Amino acid sequence: MTFLFAVFGIMSPIATTINSISGVQRGLIAGSRIIKVINSESSVSEGRIKKETFDSNIEFENVSFEYNKDTEVISDINFNIEKGKKIAFVGLSGSGKSTLLDLVIRFYDVKSGRISIDGTDLKDVQVKPYRSMFGIVSQETMLFNDTLENNIRYGYKDCSKEDIISACKIANAYNFINKMPKGLDTNIGDRGVTLSGGERQRIAIARALVRNPQILIFDEATSSLDAESEKLVQEGINESLKNRTAIIVAHRLSTIKDCDEIYVFESGKIAEHGTHEELLISNGIYKKLYSLQFSS
Ligand SMILES: Nc1ncnc2c1ncn2[C@@H]1O[C@H](COP(=O)(O)OP(=O)(O)O)[C@@H](O)[C@H]1O
Ligand SMILES: [Mg+2]
Repeated sequence: MTFLFAVFGIMSPIATTINSISGVQRGLIAGSRIIKVINSESSVSEGRIKKETFDSNIEFENVSFEYNKDTEVISDINFNIEKGKKIAFVGLSGSGKSTLLDLVIRFYDVKSGRISIDGTDLKDVQVKPYRSMFGIVSQETMLFNDTLENNIRYGYKDCSKEDIISACKIANAYNFINKMPKGLDTNIGDRGVTLSGGERQRIAIARALVRNPQILIFDEATSSLDAESEKLVQEGINESLKNRTAIIVAHRLSTIKDCDEIYVFESGKIAEHGTHEELLISNGIYKKLYSLQFSS
């Protein structure tokens, strides 16, 4: 089980990265990330402060990061996420959005600058309790040949059947689960082959919610879905966002219109930011992207 948890901790970064990289690179990067985790469990060093509640804000100050020397992927980023707010990151594939999320969950440490939570430098916090504050849903979800309940529970024992049902309801998954022959006890087959893409993503949301995370992260959670499944998953996302802090990376801009702040990424830099309305008025990249999507 420990191994499973280790995998869960890194699954999101792997999955999100794999999606944005061309075929040949994919295996290499995914492989190297997995090997790194198996060898060392974590690419960051353990801090001393046990931080397990989120009280006020997460702040990026002049943060830069590179995977390979002299190729900055994140350049001098500044932003602040206040508790209870919904923040979105948008931008072309490869612009650094998933990397930024990896930095937020401290999958990597910054090259320069500082990331802090409630004023404490992330480098000083204990990795595991810190990461357990987050619930992550990425583009691809790893499911197991087991029952729906066990896939949602994912080794987490401290939740009742009622907790699972309530997470499924919020995730907009309860109706389809209820229609299955054995409900939550239905075995979903190897890698969840019996489920559609939209159903898998709603299971992923329920899985994130049962742990009652203080901060939710969605990384292109609906990007690989057709319009109809996207709508059902989006309803689950919207419901799960209520009364929570969330960071959302989305391809379709209509889904993040109501976020408190939208950051537009371009080659690892924040090119512009503001609310949806402010960004439309300022007539920059966001406006262009939005008009393109709106017309198609
Ligand atoms: N593990 C890695 N090693 C080396 N380069 C990587 C790795 N992961 C991502 N990259 C590169 O970093 C850049 C940003 O990628 P990513 O954060 O996945 O962007 P996005 O999520 O916006 O599509 C890309 O150029 C990508 O090829
Ligand atoms: Mg990405």
